[in-house]
Amino acid sequence: MQMKLKLTVVAALAAVAGLASAQEQVVKIGHVAPVSGAQAHYGKDNENGARMAIEDLNKQNITIGGKKIKFEIQAEDDAADPKQGAAAAQKLCDAKVAGVVGHLNSGTTIPASKVYNDCGIPHVTGAATNPNLTKPGYKTTYRIIANDNALGAGLAFYAADTLKLKTVAIIDDRTAYGQGVAEVFKKTALAKGMKVVDEQFTTDKATDFMAILTAVKAKNPDAIFFGGMDPQAGPMLRQMEQLGLSKTKYFGGDGICTSEISKLAAGAKTLDNVVCAEGGASLAKMPGGTAWKARYDAKYAGQFQVYSPYTYDATFVLVDAMKRANSVDPKVYTPKLVETNFKGVTTTIQFEPNGELKNPAITLYVYKDGKKSALN
Ligand code: ALA
Repeated sequence: MQMKLKLTVVAALAAVAGLASAQEQVVKIGHVAPVSGAQAHYGKDNENGARMAIEDLNKQNITIGGKKIKFEIQAEDDAADPKQGAAAAQKLCDAKVAGVVGHLNSGTTIPASKVYNDCGIPHVTGAATNPNLTKPGYKTTYRIIANDNALGAGLAFYAADTLKLKTVAIIDDRTAYGQGVAEVFKKTALAKGMKVVDEQFTTDKATDFMAILTAVKAKNPDAIFFGGMDPQAGPMLRQMEQLGLSKTKYFGGDGICTSEISKLAAGAKTLDNVVCAEGGASLAKMPGGTAWKARYDAKYAGQFQVYSPYTYDATFVLVDAMKRANSVDPKVYTPKLVETNFKGVTTTIQFEPNGELKNPAITLYVYKDGKKSALN
């Protein structure tokens, strides 16, 4: 009799345990960035931010729709290539992830945004800055940093008003990002009375800029604006030094505002002439920046670049909307994203109706002894 009772109790306990595990649900969150090729250092940093967020979220034992949620990342590589960006997006749609953090480059994020819109999965980018991303008005597209209208204009104001520069040559890498940020800079610089004395073009694969820099040198500009990323900016700074362009100021957007550019410039003194802009507050001025960065460095020593605080917050923003909707179903929780009011590491995140961040900050940086240092 006693034996039978024991067995019944054991069976009941097993049933309860079974019920508990049946009520646990795995929810996948996609992440896309280039983690191969010359931009892999940016992509790895972005992915680290999303991974760290998922670890932190899983420690919170979150319950949504009556189920305990275990978040898992599905990380994809788009190699900064527009076609691979769209393919990675389709893969994540097919895998039925609940939401996506990414992509990193405007050139991949813009085509991917259509794919996400078509399959009804929201994505939040913490890195892609071309204003055109939010133009189609997709309800599935969100950005948690300032866009290039702010970055390009902020840099042009600084060049004209603070540094009193008169002439500039503009170079871009013909990507959606590089071309876009260069156009905004040019428009604002011209409006401020600066003269654009030369325009040159390159690609996001090039490393030899001697021909275009020689052409630029002949025009003797006060500054060069470069629309592009650090795998080009680093060698360009070295080649500027070789050509004696050692006094020329060098402006660029967030794409060159990395830790890696110091390494890629390989000791060129021209790094001292760099002024770059990022679409948020400096780490020191972010609400949770300093403590967060210490935790990041303890996990991913030497890998910090630019955007990981934003991909960290982007992951939390998706989950915050799921919590408010009490659903991990993208159809149910996506409408909640636009109502976001989330105190993140980077700022308090709220969106405009078109998915742009409300009241974004921008920060200008220079490099002192090879270290990125905020001007404001
Ligand atoms: N901000 C850069 C871009 O939009 C990374 O491509």
